[in-house]
Amino acid sequence: MRKPIVIANWKMNKSLDEALDFAGELKAKLPHGTVAHVDIIICPAFLHIAPVALNKILPSGVALGAQDAHWEEKGAFTGCVSPVMLKDVRTRYAIIGHSERRRYFGEASPMLKGKLTMSMRAGLVPVFCVGEGLGDRQAGKTFQALDEQMAVLGDISREFLSDPSEFILAYEPVWAIGTGHNATAEQAQEVHVHLRELLTSYWGSDQAQATRIVYGGSIAPDNFASIMACGDVDGGLVGGASLDCEKFLKLIEIARGGENGK
Ligand code: PGA
Repeated sequence: MRKPIVIANWKMNKSLDEALDFAGELKAKLPHGTVAHVDIIICPAFLHIAPVALNKILPSGVALGAQDAHWEEKGAFTGCVSPVMLKDVRTRYAIIGHSERRRYFGEASPMLKGKLTMSMRAGLVPVFCVGEGLGDRQAGKTFQALDEQMAVLGDISREFLSDPSEFILAYEPVWAIGTGHNATAEQAQEVHVHLRELLTSYWGSDQAQATRIVYGGSIAPDNFASIMACGDVDGGLVGGASLDCEKFLKLIEIARGGENGK
């Protein structure tokens, strides 16, 4: 039984006031008891994690995540933030390997292995993102592209994996991110099954069956229910639609298994 999870990736959006307002609105409107049924994670800009955490305005049980984390604990890395620093301000999750990091900052497997390892060592739960580009999909090379990105997980030490809930995998087809063209439920399910097979080959069946694999890419209230209904989709990583509290609340309700959900 995998608990559904909905992750808000705010990217480089919201002022501090807007971030605090969102947290307050979520606290006021989130139905009581929701977090018992669905994990809810908010990933603001680095700068806004501490004020949101320390003001304690998020609903109890809603966790904070970072959009990235460095591969070292500390050192001469101008402009970077380490997993230990994130932990220090009550961050619980860290998105690692988002396609925008891969594309704009040249992040690739050796660096991502370091980021995954240090995050887990610091006690953060990684949300590791993989996804094929449009060219890969059109050329029939979706699985090949994913296999290359996933291979880094084969090197991750099993010592970190005693609790399957401590690792989250996100399938985010690059062509679906921010485009309004989400993957169909069939496309998502086909890939998630493949990703779970890869996890099985790396970590064994028990771990793979217990690991949550979320979909991301143009999730919206009108398409999420069909995607969530897929057997191997365990939640969503949401960009644009997570900026609006009302929309985000609808997505949480769908993940919880509302009338259109699983
Ligand atoms: P989107 O972004 O929901 O705006 O497509 C998803 C993501 O990049 O995580």
